[in-house]
Amino acid sequence: MKIEKDIDKAGFYHYYPVVPAVVVVKSGGELDALACAWHIALSFDPPLFAVAISPKRYSYRLLKKSKEFTVNFLTFDKIGIIATLGRTSGREIDKFSTYKIKTTASSEIETPVLKDAYAAYECRLVKQYRTGDHVLFVGEVLAVHYKTRFFDKKRKTPIMKSFTPALYLGSDHYLGIKSFGEIKYGKEEVFGKEKGIKVTQKKLE
Ligand SMILES: Cc1cc2nc3c(=O)[nH]c(=O)nc-3n(C[C@H](O)[C@H](O)[C@H](O)COP(=O)(O)O)c2cc1C
Repeated sequence: MKIEKDIDKAGFYHYYPVVPAVVVVKSGGELDALACAWHIALSFDPPLFAVAISPKRYSYRLLKKSKEFTVNFLTFDKIGIIATLGRTSGREIDKFSTYKIKTTASSEIETPVLKDAYAAYECRLVKQYRTGDHVLFVGEVLAVHYKTRFFDKKRKTPIMKSFTPALYLGSDHYLGIKSFGEIKYGKEEVFGKEKGIKVTQKKLE
């Protein structure tokens, strides 16, 4: 294993791919959105979801003012939207009218969700932390939008046979993967008869 102490040289993408989000912000009459690879769920109760946004972004200013945002997830065939929103700035253009990006009204906040999203969270800002050159905005999730046919009703998890989520590899590269099978490996399997960490190909659906 190579050990590199200069992070610039090593890059910061070793843990990728990640599921990129599109964060939409609206303040007054202004609407903006950016691609966001750095995001994380933080709590079930209350439901908290955070996004790390650089103060350099135009959307950062809007979010500071409006104190609300939506987090949107898109399928692989929509990576054009993610890349466009992630490589243009609301400082220069109105991304929504320029690229004809459609929105749907939210139920709890003024900021809309993307019409093309397969899932989206409506968030009200509850906390923010400066984390180096980004600010972690923590939102309370007030409502969830999702395409029911993409999610298992009982498990509430994505059905990978139904869609291909967009994944981001870093450095402007994207990935779409087809599932090669699903396997349940919960407490029963860990503590039950199997008592092992072996996953055999046979078990995959
Ligand atoms: C796939 C992808 C992921 C990105 N992730 C982040 C991120 O997590 N945080 C961030 O501040 N910028 C991120 N960016 C950069 C912003 O999306 C980009 O600077 C955007 O143009 C900002 O738009 P705005 O100035 O209209 O806010 C990402 C860009 C891409 C393409």
